[in-house]
This record gives sequence, structure tokens and C-alpha cells, in this order.
Amino acid sequence: MSQFLITRTLSEEATDAALRADVLRGLTRRPKALPPKWFYDAHGSGLFEMITELPEYYPARAENDLLIATAPDIAAATGARTLIELGSGSSQKTAHLLDALPSLDTYIPIDVSESALTQAGHTLTRERPALNVHALIADFTTGLAIPGAPGPRLFAFLGSTIGNFPPVERAAFLYSIRALLEPGDCLLLGTDLVKDEEALVAAYDDAAGVTAAFNKNLLSVLNQSLDADFDLDAFDHVARWDPANEWVEMLLRSRTDQSVKIPAVGLTVDFAAGEDLRTGISAKFRMQGIRRELTLAGMELTRWWTAGPVYGLALAQPIDAQIITPRPYGPRRSPTDTGTS
Ligand code: SAH
Ligand code: AVI
Repeated sequence: MSQFLITRTLSEEATDAALRADVLRGLTRRPKALPPKWFYDAHGSGLFEMITELPEYYPARAENDLLIATAPDIAAATGARTLIELGSGSSQKTAHLLDALPSLDTYIPIDVSESALTQAGHTLTRERPALNVHALIADFTTGLAIPGAPGPRLFAFLGSTIGNFPPVERAAFLYSIRALLEPGDCLLLGTDLVKDEEALVAAYDDAAGVTAAFNKNLLSVLNQSLDADFDLDAFDHVARWDPANEWVEMLLRSRTDQSVKIPAVGLTVDFAAGEDLRTGISAKFRMQGIRRELTLAGMELTRWWTAGPVYGLALAQPIDAQIITPRPYGPRRSPTDTGTS
């Protein structure tokens, strides 16, 4: 009999305090910027699911097809009994992995979006009666406490969400994941690849305007949570490719000179006409860069699957994995004594 458990590791108060801190910091700096995790209230999570269906948003389809093709290889390479997914969202693509892992016992989806986790958890357990699903409402950037579950464990970070971190934070994040890996565990990383500018920009500026609505939803979140008075029509959605950094930048550009009040943090924010608020980046990758970043974080790229030049899936394992057995009462081993007990 399967079970679905959902644990909130973030209190409402802590989430509210984090939002206030990000708003105070992000809207008083130049250029103005906010971290992307605030997109994903229930409405934002729904809009993101709509984005994944758009003809222009190729990464979701590319990763889905790649997972279908590679899931048996991933299963054979990892033998995972537990799948831990960071930023799991709807878990739709993950279902291919869940179905391919013959020894899978537990799935731990982790997300800031309670609505996404709840919907995904109910669907998954209904369709897979033997699976234990333990969902965590948690921020994957602030230190994760993973519940005990049988190894080997496969950590998955799909959707190219790794691209939403600026480089320094990306390095810190990969390092924090490496710290969670025990011998035998692996990381599966979805990465959107560098390609022509036209396709990249279209993926973030679709004709139907869904991405624009997703981008502006950030302002709605501030209006609802902090009693702000952003006028969504007073901002334009902008997506542009930055070739030097190899990332797509998402911006909200003020149409006029305007002042916005955010009473919950005691702030009035002035925007000049044409001024940008940076709401997110989506870095695009090359295999050599991924290999280098994984190595710097203490991981080795062991497999690399691609859907042509469009999208890549990296499998990595910890370098220098050693079982370190604490021996609080025994004599210290000399460096040459590797021990067998
Ligand atoms: N993996 C899914 C969803 C990608 S969208 C897919 O490939 O379709 C990014 C997901 O990460 C969203 O569900 C969002 O709620 C979650 N997310 C964003 N920032 C987060 C953070 N700091 N901690 C935990 N989850 C986060
Ligand atoms: C979740 N993340 C990988 C998406 C991306 O492609 O950067 C978020 C997104 N923003 C706009 N469209 C999609």
C-alpha cells in the first residue's frame, strides 16, 4: 500500500520573512532584481505548466523525450531505490523515471510550491500503489534535510532549473548537493544547451503571452503578500539573450516614471521610464562547462545524453566517495591503515 506524506519544512513566517528580505534587498539595489522562487505561488505554478505546453518552449519537450529514451539506462546506471527531486513541480516528466526504476521504494519531491506538490503527490500515488511519496515543501537553496530513505539514492534536478542560478550561486548549490551525496548516490541534471538566439528568445517571449503573464505574476505575488500596489499594465515583459554570459534574461521594464508602494516593508520604490527589474536568468550550457562545474563541486560526470544539440542530461557521482565510519572510542588509524572492519 503506498502512502503520500507532505512535510512543510518552511513555516509561513519564515517564508514571509524571506520574501520581505528579498524585496528590501532586491528593489533597493541597482539594477533592481528579485530571485525567481517567488514566481511559484499556485497561480504561477499553473502558468509554468502552461509554458511547458507552448510550441516555443522546446526545453520541456526535449527533456521529456530524452527521459523516455534514457530512463532504462539511468535505471541500470544508478539502481536507485530512492528518487529525490529538487524543484519537482508537476513531476510529469519524472514519471518516466519512476516507471523505469525497478527497485524504487520512495520518491521525495521537493518544491517551494505546495500546490504543485499536492497535485503531483495525489496523482502519483493513485497511479503507483506501491510507491511511497514523501513530499517536502522546502527551499533547495537554504540547506536541505532529506528524510531517511533506502539507498542508493538518485538526486534529480530537471527542467534546466540549474540555469536559473547566477554562476556563483550555481557553484554553491552544486557544492551543497555534493555534500548530500553518499557513496553510491548519483545526481541527474537536466541542462538546456546553447543554441541560436531566435529559438532561445522565442522560448521566453511566446506569441500567446503566457510567459509575460508568468513574469508579471511576480508583481501579483508582491501585491498579495506585501500589500504592494504594482500596476501590472505599467510594465512590459522583456526577454533578451546575453551572449557574453550565455543566458536569457527575463525583465519587467517600467513603461513610465512611477512610484510603487510596498507598505509591508515600509518601502516606496521609484522606477524611471525604461528601467528594468530583473526577474530571472536562464543560463544555457555546453557539456564541457557542465563537466567543469561538476568537477569543481566534487562530482564526476559519468554519463551524458543529448537530444541533438538541444538539451542534455548529465549523470554525476561524488568524487572520492569513501565510507567514513566514526570510531569515537577506538584508537585512531594511521594514514596507511585502511582497515577492513
Ligand atoms: N522540474 C519541473 C519544474 C521546473 S519549474 C519541470 O522540469 O517541469 C521550477 C520548479 O522549481 C518550480 O516548481 C518551483 O516552484 C521550484 N522552485 C523554484 N525555486 C525553488 C527553491 N528555491 N526551492 C525549491 N523549489 C524551487
Ligand atoms: C524553471 N525554469 C528552468 C524555467 C526556465 O526555462 O528558465 C523558468 C521559466 N521562465 C520563463 N519561462 C520558463
